[in-house]
Amino acid sequence: MDEKGLFEHFGDRLKQDVPLANLTTAKVGGSARYFLNAGSAAQLAQDVSFLWAEDVPFFVLGSGSNILVSDAGINTVVILNKAKAVRIDHEGESPSIYAESGAILITTARQAAMRGFTGLEWATTIPGTVGGAVYGNAGAHRSSMQQNLLLADILHRTNGSLSLNTEQMGYSYRSSVLKREPGEAVILAARLSVEKGDTERIKALMSEFAARRKLTQPPGPSMGSTFKNPEGDSAGRIIDSLGLKGTRVGGVEVSPLHANFFINDGSGTARDYYNLILLVQGIVEAKTGTKLELEIEMIGEWQE
Ligand code: EPU
Repeated sequence: MDEKGLFEHFGDRLKQDVPLANLTTAKVGGSARYFLNAGSAAQLAQDVSFLWAEDVPFFVLGSGSNILVSDAGINTVVILNKAKAVRIDHEGESPSIYAESGAILITTARQAAMRGFTGLEWATTIPGTVGGAVYGNAGAHRSSMQQNLLLADILHRTNGSLSLNTEQMGYSYRSSVLKREPGEAVILAARLSVEKGDTERIKALMSEFAARRKLTQPPGPSMGSTFKNPEGDSAGRIIDSLGLKGTRVGGVEVSPLHANFFINDGSGTARDYYNLILLVQGIVEAKTGTKLELEIEMIGEWQE
């Protein structure tokens, strides 16, 4: 399908050359060639179905907290997921939260907490959307999405609408079947388990997690953990032990507080990020034999 066809279908909703840096937490990267907002899960499903049927490549952007968008940008359609409806169901025996995939995870988890439901306190420190967390099995404080997910409502390119349970999501550490087969499905919404709890204890746990995060993780533009933790160890500990805190490429540096966080001082580019990733990965592999794997995803057009 050509540009004219896209405009005929989407009309005024379709924008062109929209800068993406401010829609990501690392604050780098170029523009989206075409850009759409999806305000509900139904809208997202409709847009995705159309683009699949027309064979137009697209990328669904959540809060951009775990992606590195190239400086050249994304040469396809970017759909900004603004499907944010959240509902707490507590009439039956087991309470649960139903959240559209563009809902902010922190907000969703806090809503549950404020209403006296426990189980999602770990998620109140994780930037990102519910969809992103379900896709990447986001986690902190020894919990992860895997423990809370009851069902993920997805739209699959060949199999249509499906509800996948935790087992069917094929979860592993910071990954899922959807992350291992990118582009094949889009998450529309998720049902998460919670339990009735004691509000004071829930608040105390959230404060403890927030305090720990403040002590161990730096503020400022970054993508959170850059690398996955290798089995039985921590990427941050390894990078730190090699004296690499403060290592800089252009405007991006290995955080002096947590060595798995790479911070953009405001002048950094996606290329700076990539070069710092390669530099750190290379030194770690040469000195320890461990090849650190990326936790973040690289998106867009990259020339070697
Ligand atoms: N450490 C160092 N130096 C550093 C950083 C860490 O020595 O510069 C040591 C710490 O002292 C600690 C160990 O490494 O003994 C582990 O560090 P930390 O507790 O900070 O946890 P992490 O393994 O680096 C993981 C997740 C984080 C999550 C925290 C807290 C991954 C890749 N990271 O970090 O998730 O917030 O645990 O639960 O699994 C993310 O995924 O983006 C993320 C931030």
